[in-house]
Amino acid sequence: MKPPRKLHIKSYGCQMNVYDAQRMMDTLAGEGFVETESADDADLVILNTCHIREKASEKVYSELGRLRLAKDEAARHGRDMRIAVAGCVAQAEGEEIIRRAPTVDVVVGPQSYHHLPELLARAKSEGRALETEFPVEDKFNFLPAPKPDAIRARGISAFVTVQEGCDKFCTFCVVPYTRGAEVSRPVAKIVDDVKRLADNGVREITLIGQNVNAYHGEGPDGRTWPLGKLLHRLAEIDGIARLRYSTSHPRDVEESLITAHRDLDALMPFVHLPVQSGSDRILAAMNRKHTADDYRRVIDRFRTARQDIAFSSDFIVGFPGETEGEFAATLALVMQIGYAAGYSFKYSPRPGTPAADMQETVSAAEMDERLVRLQELIDSQQSAFNKAMIGNTVDVLFERAARNPGQFVGRTAHLQPAHVFASSDIIGQVLPVRIDSLERYSLLGELAGPSARPAQSLPVQPASSSQETLGA
Ligand code: SAH
Ligand code: SF4
Ligand code: F3S
Repeated sequence: MKPPRKLHIKSYGCQMNVYDAQRMMDTLAGEGFVETESADDADLVILNTCHIREKASEKVYSELGRLRLAKDEAARHGRDMRIAVAGCVAQAEGEEIIRRAPTVDVVVGPQSYHHLPELLARAKSEGRALETEFPVEDKFNFLPAPKPDAIRARGISAFVTVQEGCDKFCTFCVVPYTRGAEVSRPVAKIVDDVKRLADNGVREITLIGQNVNAYHGEGPDGRTWPLGKLLHRLAEIDGIARLRYSTSHPRDVEESLITAHRDLDALMPFVHLPVQSGSDRILAAMNRKHTADDYRRVIDRFRTARQDIAFSSDFIVGFPGETEGEFAATLALVMQIGYAAGYSFKYSPRPGTPAADMQETVSAAEMDERLVRLQELIDSQQSAFNKAMIGNTVDVLFERAARNPGQFVGRTAHLQPAHVFASSDIIGQVLPVRIDSLERYSLLGELAGPSARPAQSLPVQPASSSQETLGA
């Protein structure tokens, strides 16, 4: 028997890329690949790239420089290392990658991952292979389901893509060009996926999509189901304790989603609802198709349905033409809403987007200064939100051992990491925890239920802020 080939995937960008990396793993597992932690000893390295801001896409070429050295080193030892570029930079700049980086064997856009085995074979026979056309078939019909072992290895919280692509065309954004038009998966397929995950120990599902609440998949009754109805169906599946979804657009918040928050205990009261700016003039220039007031009203509808609901958002500072007064409108909106978390970015012009042709008016120094002011405000709201947990007893879904021996970490309903000392059988359970203190972004507490054990006084290693992973 041939020894298994080793595969290393390095993902950048959003949750969709994390999920896609798993799908690529599952596809290539069928070709005899096993995952390896390091690129250096891999037979195939896939860079799963992000094009959202200039910084993100620049990383690709520096990473390819490093991989070229690793490939040369492997060749010196008689090993044939293959390098593939996937993700949104592959889609946007595929031809250029082929031209600029001779070390790359395969370029594959996000809609073609089901063709990876044949692209690798083509690269072997023809030298190199590129596929960035949007294929006519839906890749999800061809990507194999994960094996039970793979599901268990990935832990108790899983992503499931329900929708991909975006038809919104915000003027700053590459996503409609890199991911294509909105496509929703049928309800039955999603139900199958979630059942398989639940059967193998997954307790929390995050439904993902570039514009997840634009979901309109075919239901088993032949009708089109909105996201709220899908959530109702998934909440019935045995073993699923928690449901989440991300990322939503304020324009697509249908009543069924609001009532899902009112009616479903499993649907967590934490919503990521990007607004980008608090200025109506900037929102119009961004083609967001909503005003700041529209956004406030959407927030109010959620809050009326569920009082303990909390929000996070994305913001862009320094969009072309943004005045100090318009930036102040963003700060004012943040003050009014009161966020539990937020991700703010300096505007980055992206080739091919309408905003790239607009005159940039905000200097680098002004952008830095606006970013700092906004981040300080959001940070203070986040700390206040986290501090308010101290003394309360909250439900935590435990996910894994923490770095300190004997300590375990999970997430609250509001996605805050929470640490306790306990035994490993708490993993996969939702248990009440009395929160005693806060260290950076992590809550520390004690199990409050019957299985509670006394706390020990070891220093905690706070989990890194979710900002680093979710910020796309
Ligand atoms: N589909 C999601 C977000 C995708 S990108 C949505 O519609 O909300 C994640 C975030 O990156 C965006 O919300 C936006 O705040 C930021 N972003 C996108 N394009 C950007 C650009 N050109 N410059 C700076 N930030 C950008
Ligand atoms: Fe990009 Fe989101 Fe706007 Fe779509 S809705 S264009 S993904 S920012
Ligand atoms: Fe980046 Fe593409 Fe996601 S550009 S944020 S990887 S959709």
